[in-house]
Amino acid sequence: MKFIIAFLILFINIYFIKYQTFSYSFIYMQNLVISVAAPKGGVGKTTTAVNIAVGLSNKGKKTLLIDVDPSGYSSSAFGYDEEKIFANVIDLYKQTKNVQEVIHRTQFPNLEIIPFERINYNEEVIFNRLTSDKTVLRSAVQEIKFLYDYIILDCPPFLYGSTVNSLVASDYLIIPVKSSKFSLEAVAKMIGFVEEIKKTENPGLKVDGLLLTMHEFNTKASFHVKKELYRLYPNYLYKTAIPKNSKVAESTFYNKPVILFDDHAKASVAYMNLVDEIIEKHETSHLMNLSGFEHSDFFEEEIGVN
Ligand SMILES: Nc1ncnc2c1ncn2[C@@H]1O[C@H](COP(=O)(O)OP(=O)(O)OP(=O)(O)O)[C@@H](O)[C@H]1O
Ligand SMILES: [Mg+2]
Repeated sequence: MKFIIAFLILFINIYFIKYQTFSYSFIYMQNLVISVAAPKGGVGKTTTAVNIAVGLSNKGKKTLLIDVDPSGYSSSAFGYDEEKIFANVIDLYKQTKNVQEVIHRTQFPNLEIIPFERINYNEEVIFNRLTSDKTVLRSAVQEIKFLYDYIILDCPPFLYGSTVNSLVASDYLIIPVKSSKFSLEAVAKMIGFVEEIKKTENPGLKVDGLLLTMHEFNTKASFHVKKELYRLYPNYLYKTAIPKNSKVAESTFYNKPVILFDDHAKASVAYMNLVDEIIEKHETSHLMNLSGFEHSDFFEEEIGVN
């Protein structure tokens, strides 16, 4: 009898590990580390990091958002002003605090955050010097990775310092792409940079996807960028595109991510779709055809482009 039970347990384990079903992900955490980065300012990195972190936590995923951008915007998106921040990313780099001591709770049980207090120019110079040690962030992330389904890192708009550290510490990368001519150059630069990191510090790093942000579904410029991205990187483009939506800017005045500010706003609905897409991709990947999706399906909504 004991032998039969042991055999059954072994069989079930092998089945779940091989086929990663929902029940497997329900029992075991995903422990995925995802950076949101692009070598371009104002493309929606912070908006994306914050909204997918909230979205994932709403779906019951234990999530940690780490703000590694010295401008500290993702912290302020949660209303984290200076008084509420008792420790931050710099303390980690200075090694005056360990990673457990810099984690802040939020109003959501599944969402925690490591904030970045806004710093002045001199402090930023010091911080950039500290980031030359690429092991600090990676070690910190490794130490707590097992506690979370998803760890999301919001990176600054440059390809050195804490961005490099985040990519070294990550499994995946989301590249937000704002529809403009220069976005394509930024994507090529980012993908080239990922190849460098893969060759040196982090061979396991993968591009999770290119995300169209502030997308205007009815303009030729946006359509052109989308088409070019699809042509150049067919397997990378998320099916979800985030529309340009005034509710996003409005939500920042209330220190709230848009999906909390107005869950019916077009951008909020899109971010929730993106969260579903990410979860589906990582937790039911065996069910999907990872070679991409149907071209006709992808462009269906834009047939009326003007
Ligand atoms: N979908 C959207 N629709 C309209 N405005 C948006 C949208 N996404 C972001 N924005 C606005 O665009 C601006 C830049 O967004 P965000 O701060 O997320 O970019 P970023 O890439 O993190 O910038 P930085 O490089 O400065 O860190 C913000 O004012 C934000 O409110
Ligand atoms: Mg930002």
